[in-house]
Amino acid sequence: MELAALLLAYLFGAIPAGAWLARGYGVDIQKVGSGNIGATNVLRTLGAGPALLVAAFDVLKGGIAVLVARWMGLEGPLLGGVAVAAVLGHNYSVFLRFTGGKGVATSFGTLLFLDPGVALLTFPVGVLTMFLTRFVSAGSLVGGATAVVLAFAMGRPLWLVATVGLLAGLIFWTHRENIRRLQQGSERRLGEKATPPR
Ligand code: G3P
Repeated sequence: MELAALLLAYLFGAIPAGAWLARGYGVDIQKVGSGNIGATNVLRTLGAGPALLVAAFDVLKGGIAVLVARWMGLEGPLLGGVAVAAVLGHNYSVFLRFTGGKGVATSFGTLLFLDPGVALLTFPVGVLTMFLTRFVSAGSLVGGATAVVLAFAMGRPLWLVATVGLLAGLIFWTHRENIRRLQQGSERRLGEKATPPR
C-alpha cells in the first residue's frame, strides 16, 4: 500500500502541465527563457492565462497526492514521503526523460494539505519577497527557508520539519542556476519576456 501510494504520488507529480500546455502552443518550454516547465517560465513565454493554469495544476497535483495518500491510510513520515515523491516527480519527470521543474508550486500544494497553518503563513512571505525584489526565484528561496523556520518554531513534529526541510533543500538545489544568476545580476525579473536560455 505504502509503495503504491509513493509511486502514485511520483507519477501524479510527474505530469508536466507546463511542458504539455506549451507544446499545445507549439512551444518547447524547455528551450525558451529559463528552460523551466513551471508557471514563471510559462508566464514569460505564453502570458498570464496559461501561467495561471499551470500554477493551479502544479499546486493541485501536490495537494491531491497528499490527499489520496491520506485516504489510502498513510500518515506521519509516510505522508511526508509522499509529498517528497510528488515533488521528485515534478522535478525529474518520467514523461520528460527525468528532467522537469523546480518544485515550488508542487511543494506548496503538498504543504497546504500536510500543514495548512505553515503553508498559509509561508505564502505571503514568499509573495512579498517576489514583488519587492521582482525575482520569482528570490520569493521561492525565501519561501522555502521560511517554511522550515515556521515548521520548527511552531513546534511541528520532527517528521514534518524534516519533510519541509527536504522540500526546501530540493528547492535550493533546483534553483542553483537562479542563485548563480542572482549573484551575477543576470536573473530575469518578473514580467520580463522570454529569451533563449542563459
Ligand atoms: O518556481 C520557479 C521560480 O522560482 C523560478 O523560475 O523560470 O525564473 O527559473 P525561473
